[in-house]
Amino acid sequence: NLLEPIPQPPLKYFGLLGHAPEIDLTFPARSLWRLMDLYGPIYEANLQGRKVFVGTHALLSEMLDEDQWVKIPAAPQQELRAAAGDGLVTAFSHEKNWWKAHRLLTPSFGPLGIRRMFDDMLELSSQLVLKWDRYDPENEIDCVEDFTQLTFDTIGLCAFNFRFNEFYTDEVHPFAKQLGEVLIESGKRTHRPGLVNRLVFFRDEQRRQENIAQIHNLCDKIIRDRLENPKPDATDLLNVLLHGVDKDTREKLPIENVRYQIGTFLSAGYETTASTLSFIYYHLCDNPDKLTRLQREVDEVLGDKVITVDMLPKLVYLDACIKEAMRLNPPVNLFTRNPIEDRILGGKYSIKKEIPVSCLLRHLHRDTKIWGEDAEVFRPERMLNGAFEALPKGAWQPFGDGLRACIGRTFSFQEMHISIAQVLQRFDIRKADSSYKLVMRSNMTTKPANFKIKVSRRPGRG
Ligand code: HEM
Repeated sequence: NLLEPIPQPPLKYFGLLGHAPEIDLTFPARSLWRLMDLYGPIYEANLQGRKVFVGTHALLSEMLDEDQWVKIPAAPQQELRAAAGDGLVTAFSHEKNWWKAHRLLTPSFGPLGIRRMFDDMLELSSQLVLKWDRYDPENEIDCVEDFTQLTFDTIGLCAFNFRFNEFYTDEVHPFAKQLGEVLIESGKRTHRPGLVNRLVFFRDEQRRQENIAQIHNLCDKIIRDRLENPKPDATDLLNVLLHGVDKDTREKLPIENVRYQIGTFLSAGYETTASTLSFIYYHLCDNPDKLTRLQREVDEVLGDKVITVDMLPKLVYLDACIKEAMRLNPPVNLFTRNPIEDRILGGKYSIKKEIPVSCLLRHLHRDTKIWGEDAEVFRPERMLNGAFEALPKGAWQPFGDGLRACIGRTFSFQEMHISIAQVLQRFDIRKADSSYKLVMRSNMTTKPANFKIKVSRRPGRG
């Protein structure tokens, strides 16, 4: 028999808690990374059930066949169903509303649909530039905070014609706070036995349910506003969700599902982009030669003109910087699939059917067999001149893969292109603390901790 057991960390406390003691609940992904550094590119852990983790392209590439592997929402996503029900992210692939919403919304997220959102994105990106323009050059800008305002306003306006007006207040919108708390608590619940959740942490659950009720209230308000003030000509998601008829079933989405989809887009559509923007600025400030090259490109393409949609494809180095930052620091940590049948992985590891196998994207994206010996280095040039397109399938995976891949990829790229180009056109940027080295924090996504920049208006701009 050529099979080998999958490496496992030793169990503590007679195994009563499985491998839960290995996990730091304030940053679970970091614990998973540490275990991979210790036990190698495949290991198994008992975390409220058996789970397998892999971290190389060779292993991941065996998981991309959608006839053999399926997305079963992972435990934290299942906890989130209390808030997002059968919305796109948390739905099982066999659920009818997933298929209906997927078919209805896909055109809106295609290149033409996203192009139509350009003006709204530009308006909000310009608000960020105006805000920064008023700052003293010594003012320290908290990247995650400001990009969260930008991306939250953008998803609200582009998707639902709803203005959160984040730039007009100092406080984050209560929705973002409520959602953040729900995400954290949902994650924690999955690392605790059900009985402990029920008996010890019932107040936390009560608070989670209150937050969820508030989130639903906002989604219902958005629906009510539109039904009371119809906008027959609007091409935004809200009209598609409320009035679109699926061509296969000839049905509309149930109103409860519309609520879940609004909650889903408001949550999936901002934090990941805000984290990505923050990582990009970190890497640019940490690599001044790359920043200079990028600013040169922005000058060549935009000059002193207002950015237009036709300029976007010309910003090729910017595109490479975004891809490279997402390689080194993917904000979503895991790509999880479950085999439909028992399988052998890597030629020697037996995986029982329906056991979740998660690829740690951080390790995948630093696999030296794909990225070479300088895999740890920020080098956007590796994405240029057709090199990105020539990568093997699955090598760069920050948006997931297949039918259940991120529907918002083009949306977030356009949003990031506009914002970064506008900022670099107007400002010189630098780290607020020149000795800052990347420290990360995480709720369900990963982002830089306490990363601040300073901006000063470029000579001759404005
Ligand atoms: C799904 C990442 C931006 C909406 C996903 C998945 C990943 C991801 C990894 C797959 C999750 C899984 O396998 O369970 C990202 C990153 C983003 C981003 C890194 C930004 C840099 C957005 C934006 C939107 C969005 C801007 C909305 C406008 C969604 C939705 C799904 C999804 C609805 C579920 C797709 C489905 O299963 O049908 N995203 N996302 N995302 N994302 Fe994104």
